[in-house]
Amino acid sequence: MDKFRAFRVHRENNKVFGRVENLNISDLSKGEVVIKASYSSVNYKDALASTGAGKIIRNFPRVSGINVSGYVVSSSDKRFKEGDPVIVTGYEFGVNHDGGYAEYVRVPSDWVVALPKGMSLFNAMAIGTAGFTVALCVQRLEENNQLPELGKFIITGASGGVGNFAIDIMSALGYQVVAVTGKPDRHQSLIDLGADHLLDRNTIDLKGAPLEKGQWGGAIDNLGGEILSWLTKTVNVGGNIASVGLAGGTELNTTVMPFILRGVSILGINAPACSMKLRTRLWERLVNDLAPKKIDTIVTNVVQLEDLPDVFKNMLAGKTFGRTVVSINPEK
Ligand SMILES: NC(=O)c1ccc[n+]([C@@H]2O[C@H](COP(=O)([O-])OP(=O)(O)OC[C@H]3O[C@@H](n4cnc5c(N)ncnc54)[C@H](OP(=O)(O)O)[C@@H]3O)[C@@H](O)[C@H]2O)c1
Repeated sequence: MDKFRAFRVHRENNKVFGRVENLNISDLSKGEVVIKASYSSVNYKDALASTGAGKIIRNFPRVSGINVSGYVVSSSDKRFKEGDPVIVTGYEFGVNHDGGYAEYVRVPSDWVVALPKGMSLFNAMAIGTAGFTVALCVQRLEENNQLPELGKFIITGASGGVGNFAIDIMSALGYQVVAVTGKPDRHQSLIDLGADHLLDRNTIDLKGAPLEKGQWGGAIDNLGGEILSWLTKTVNVGGNIASVGLAGGTELNTTVMPFILRGVSILGINAPACSMKLRTRLWERLVNDLAPKKIDTIVTNVVQLEDLPDVFKNMLAGKTFGRTVVSINPEK
């Protein structure tokens, strides 16, 4: 196989940076399946990992990119054969194993998911880790008896990838969606996605009593920190908070009051560690009952490998919205 292009992250003199390089397949982490990548996409974790803003990658150099879609080129595992369209997300992909920002990818066969029938490789990466994470949230919320009748459903980090899919999917499931954003200029686009109400995150009084008036039936939280603390105090009796992200902080300051007086539950969401059985089921749901309705609106940017450093910078500065797809070997 000829050399191919990959976005590889290095650490030199304690500085972490990435660049497009020409690699051989033998340069990549080992695995039974080689995939010719069609698309990847940019998640907050990719920005943290590829810039060193988060200590995500521990061993350098490393091809980053925590999700990819493409066609199998070769497989020593009989479950996959040349030409199969597949998806890889999660596990150590793009973290401690070379990832999806490359023309070719090599992974353990146990990480590979067959592309669900009816889903394109482009849409698989438009949805990517963000949409998959929302499907996992829905699964956990359902298991813990979340229902539209419990009250308005609040989604933080609304203008981001997870936030956009959460609005799209939860509104389609019949929830009255409240979108919390720090970007007033995105209000109309969030309404177009399915939000019923908007809340400017900068106007929320986060310093209230340990238990405030119950306002929300449940929540998907992408921010952590003060906002998550506030959510615990304002979710109604029996409601759930799916704790997804840390874009606003890692701390959680609350009391036991919401849990013992209102029966509020925090549901931990860990998409990378999701079992293969559930993973396959959730990808199937994402083309059936949880199929996002507004993918075309959610994808705001299609970029090349060379564009990644700028995308990461803007994402970490909170300036991006929606999903950025990385076109690697696009389908005709
Ligand atoms: N647990 C899991 O398995 C899992 C899986 C996927 C993602 N995640 C996490 O979920 C979060 C969202 O991921 P994503 O890919 O959707 O990221 P994203 O596209 O960058 O969206 C994050 C959103 O959070 C808000 N935000 C960004 N920086 C902020 C800051 N400093 N303070 C407050 N709000 C800020 C912004 O929304 P507004 O301006 O609209 O408020 C931004 O659009 C990330 O923390 C990510 O690591 C976790």
